[in-house]
Amino acid sequence: MKKYKVTFKPFEKTIEIASGQNLFDIAKKAGIELNSSCGGEGTCGKCKVIVKEGKFKAASFIKLSQSEIEKGYVLACQTEPMTDLLIDVPPESIMRKGQKIATGSRAKDLEKLLKNLDKEIKPRARKIALTLTPPDLEDNISDTDRMKRELSKSGYIPERIYCSLKLLRDLNHILREGNWKITLTTIERGNTLEIIGIEAGDTTGLRYGLAVDIGTTTIVVYLVNLIGGKIIDIASTYNSQARCGDDVITRIVYATERGGLGELNNLVISDVNDLVKILTEKQKIDPRLIDSIVISGNTTMTHLFFGIDPKYIREEPYIPAANLFPLVMAGEIGIEVNTDAVIYALPGVASYVGGDITSGVLAAGLNKEEELTLFIDVGTNGEIVLGNSEWLMTAACSAGPCFEGSGIKHGMRATDGAIEEINIDRKTYDVHRGVIGDEKPIGICGSGMIDAIAEMFLSGVIDQKGKIREEIGLPRIRKGEEGVEFVIAWKEETGINKDIVLTEADINNILRAKAAIYAGFSILLKEAGSSFSDVSKVYIAGGFGNYIDVEKAITIGLLPDMPPEKFIFLGNTSIMGAYFCLLSKKMRKEAEGIARKMTYIELSVSRAFMDEYLSALFLPHTDITAFPTVQKMLKS
Ligand code: FES
Repeated sequence: MKKYKVTFKPFEKTIEIASGQNLFDIAKKAGIELNSSCGGEGTCGKCKVIVKEGKFKAASFIKLSQSEIEKGYVLACQTEPMTDLLIDVPPESIMRKGQKIATGSRAKDLEKLLKNLDKEIKPRARKIALTLTPPDLEDNISDTDRMKRELSKSGYIPERIYCSLKLLRDLNHILREGNWKITLTTIERGNTLEIIGIEAGDTTGLRYGLAVDIGTTTIVVYLVNLIGGKIIDIASTYNSQARCGDDVITRIVYATERGGLGELNNLVISDVNDLVKILTEKQKIDPRLIDSIVISGNTTMTHLFFGIDPKYIREEPYIPAANLFPLVMAGEIGIEVNTDAVIYALPGVASYVGGDITSGVLAAGLNKEEELTLFIDVGTNGEIVLGNSEWLMTAACSAGPCFEGSGIKHGMRATDGAIEEINIDRKTYDVHRGVIGDEKPIGICGSGMIDAIAEMFLSGVIDQKGKIREEIGLPRIRKGEEGVEFVIAWKEETGINKDIVLTEADINNILRAKAAIYAGFSILLKEAGSSFSDVSKVYIAGGFGNYIDVEKAITIGLLPDMPPEKFIFLGNTSIMGAYFCLLSKKMRKEAEGIARKMTYIELSVSRAFMDEYLSALFLPHTDITAFPTVQKMLKS
């Protein structure tokens, strides 16, 4: 087999590889993570690199413009070396990590909130310390009976205590090593006390747990002291599965049609392990002292975390393998803490409304609201819940991941270099930008897209259908290789040595996403026989929610036209609910009650949804009277 040397600039990294591998995988091996939204299908155009020297073969050039091809651009996932190569990786293709991940409320607020909700800390696993009387010739019952006899003194019935053969194999040694002092890790299943771990000595005073939010885009871990409930530290990262696709559908395809289930499972498990390592090393805590874990994620993420094939989530009638998952031991799935640590997953509702939404409803307290309340989580998808203390209704509105940058020419996540704020001068059409990290812009993130469209609409650059009005005759409006586009930043102002533009196709993608979300609101309200005026407040969850400008989101018709004080930003409610469930039996019960109580409305087959969606494709909506504030702004 032939071998080639590939050098990546500006990293100055050279790697020798066997032939037959694509540049995307070669870059990964060299420690360079490239952007990808399509899982290497060659359809997103996010992995562009420039071949400076050498010969290659490319399977596809789709997504590259003629001028890019002339400059030597290729899609890394579609290109294999035929000789040694010198590659230049442009800044917009480098995956940026580590900024602006919503990690939840302030730790102190959360700890206080939990104390108000439930005073009694009860992790899913319980530790019981025992001191046994050593055997002698008079008292010569077996080690197991001796342990059960001690437990019976605390009210446990010996016949209802279960200890597996695996643990029995160690019991006799541990009892003697610990000088007849042991600590049992136990869980209750129905009437049975199940022993899941045995340690020498009394370890009840040192207990730690993890609350884990597994998002499609980001992963957040809280390290929690289970004695008292204090959040010791927080760590977060981007979900490494993103290299296999940006959204849940692409990942399901990757898992099922491309045999990537094992890879996706390994990626998320190693992300969690990496975060646990960072936290435990920093806090000087032995990871074996972690005995309880609660995870919260959407249905696909939860399936992939447990290594369950998510195939049928995507096929009509869209059935998950489970909504309520069994307790799993950390050792069974490779989480590097105490091998017997119990993993509890927040229960989901349906294929596209998962445990993260149950967690969000729990954290927001929506199930206790007297008045009609809306909850929306705008992340990689858009999930909505409507209801109060008596009933809850939910739907997923397949908004797609465009607010995360996917499918948008210069779209990117909310990381350094992303344009997050835009204002257009009404007279000169000059564009004023706010950029994350105060550096030269390299792309536009979700909040920047909302701002851009609102401002382009209010300044008359686009019409109600989102069409760019070429007749204005601005230098910023021009015909690009992908159709008409508006220049947000000129080449010399950017960090990518190219103009940053918003194309008409981008605008259409964003309008489709916002229309899906608004139509989702409308359908749930119709099902409930209510209208927006009946809604007392709107909870906005998810990292994205933290950064959007409500007024601009109303202007484009993403959010309903309601007074700003009715919108409440909650941040990452998925991790908040996971934290509550890690520590409180009452909250776990409540979460299971919420999941059972939520009525799921399948929008993908609803004719009414399609009608609402089509009406919402306009700016802000075909029925402008539903948006009096925008009407007023347009008049002025
Ligand atoms: Fe290469 Fe999408 S085009 S990862």
